[in-house]
Amino acid sequence: MAGAEAGIEALLIPGNGLSLRPWDTATLRQMAAWDERGFPDSAFDMGFLREPARMAEFLDWLVRDERHLHLAAFEADRAVGRVSVNMRDPAGIYIWGVHVPPEHGGRGVCTRMLEALLAWLDARDGGSELVLSVNSFAHHARRIYERLGFLPAETRWQFDPALDAALRRLAPAQRSQVDGHVRFQRGRWEVRTTLMRRPAPAHR
Ligand SMILES: CC(C)(COP(=O)(O)OP(=O)(O)OC[C@H]1O[C@@H](n2cnc3c(N)ncnc32)[C@H](O)[C@@H]1OP(=O)(O)O)[C@@H](O)C(=O)NCCC(=O)NCCS
Repeated sequence: MAGAEAGIEALLIPGNGLSLRPWDTATLRQMAAWDERGFPDSAFDMGFLREPARMAEFLDWLVRDERHLHLAAFEADRAVGRVSVNMRDPAGIYIWGVHVPPEHGGRGVCTRMLEALLAWLDARDGGSELVLSVNSFAHHARRIYERLGFLPAETRWQFDPALDAALRRLAPAQRSQVDGHVRFQRGRWEVRTTLMRRPAPAHR
């Protein structure tokens, strides 16, 4: 894997009862087998990797991807979560793709995974401001981010192609769980999204 930095294959970030390591082919096979959540979180589901052609396409993208660090959280050798970091986003170091599959949910994996990642990012070159965005229906995620020191910076309506595609496939009654969080504007679905920032250590 190219990863965001040279030597990234050897990276191991220790955490509380888990460790973070860059994705490799074996990790992707584990993610492919994770249970899926479906709407409204279908964009996070990794089941598409069960199709060999999609897996090959994804691996091809991954080896060419120089911008992002893609990490999985491991308990022993079991992948229990994932998170990606854009190390070169103009908005700052941008955390995205935070995902814990349902079978590993509700026991602190996300919290512990992000605590480990944030400690590692804070220790690099004195740390930087961190940024992420959260859809307004993702209440659990928002609470976790707030507990970890992220503060809301700005809320806006955003076009998310995966969510738009999912909403188009659904009957109106099936969209009720995101009522108030989405709107149909200029021929496409938009979702209310909050940008959150966590100041660099020197500014906390
Ligand atoms: C959001 C998501 C990452 C949370 O993952 P998780 O590992 O279940 O999160 P945690 O266990 O750290 O915290 C979730 C809740 O479990 C609780 N919890 C933590 N440790 C626990 C434990 N040992 N036992 C029971 N509950 C526990 C937390 O208090 C938290 O409760 P709260 O939401 O009421 O505040 C996961 O649900 C997910 O992937 N959702 C779909 C994708 C998504 O929304 N991603 C974020 C996009 S911005």
